[in-house]
Amino acid sequence: MSHVQIDADGRLRHLITLEGLERSHISGMLDRAVELREAFSATGSRPQLLAARTVVNLFFEPSTRTRSSFELAARRLGANVLNFDISGSSTSKGESLEDTLATLEAMQADAFIVRHKENGTPERLARHAQRAAILNAGDGNNAHPTQGLLDALTIRDRHPDLASLKVVICGDIRHSRVARSDVHVLKSLGVAEVRLCGPAALMPDASELQACPRFDSFDEAIEGCDAIIMLRLQKERMVAGLAGSESEYFQRFGLNAARLRRANSEAMVLHPGPMNRGVEIAPEVADGPQSCVLRQVANGIPVRMAVLATLLEG
Ligand code: NCD
Repeated sequence: MSHVQIDADGRLRHLITLEGLERSHISGMLDRAVELREAFSATGSRPQLLAARTVVNLFFEPSTRTRSSFELAARRLGANVLNFDISGSSTSKGESLEDTLATLEAMQADAFIVRHKENGTPERLARHAQRAAILNAGDGNNAHPTQGLLDALTIRDRHPDLASLKVVICGDIRHSRVARSDVHVLKSLGVAEVRLCGPAALMPDASELQACPRFDSFDEAIEGCDAIIMLRLQKERMVAGLAGSESEYFQRFGLNAARLRRANSEAMVLHPGPMNRGVEIAPEVADGPQSCVLRQVANGIPVRMAVLATLLEG
């Protein structure tokens, strides 16, 4: 695949998207995440793979878990972390993003973690970077590759053989970069079926994600599934408001305990957060025994350590 994230020797230089990324790259990062996680929990090991390196968080959209997870991951590997303050920066005085990048690269920054509301911003910066690695922490509705990787790891931990699994993603898929990265990583790892379910207005265009069967009934979509990925209604990305009330939405597309019983017994429940309880997920499911939400958060750190180590080593 020719993509800015892969160099001429086939090495991963940036992480912009999981679409089209070879399975060996994906499995390699997941295996490395498991090694780092096990070493840390056994001995508190913090391999200083990024000692003397500088990682810059460049977040142009709000974030709690992703930004802090990247920061903890980078620090656990010994890196210096700079949380760039956008509101107090020259970008708010009209400086282009490319100039901001060049300025920080001149200060020897080694990696930039980029979140931006516009699709393609991390890729644009990757084309412009001289030496630094660019890591996409979410661009518009396009991609959120580290979330895709941590979701895949959370599922793989329970089901090492992914090939026979059925997974459903339910909610506002149209506006979700998480859904797109999840589909790409799960299909690349060989998951048999990734179903998509949501109101017609919140489904992606028919030309997108064609390998995934679509459902407008959540009761049908959830039948026989091993993992259920719930998504938030991303109102900040909707052009028009949602037709109908939140309680109507919950009736049709919310995950409650009764609906969960239609899935396979012990099916995993995932949500990238932030959760809106009572809108897409009932509190008793969010806090119930099948919820993997906090396991996802915990896996975020070793996954991001593995990505940083892969991109910055060597
Ligand atoms: C998501 C995001 O920002 O893409 N959250 C996250 O990173 N864990 C999903 C969302 O905002 O709904």
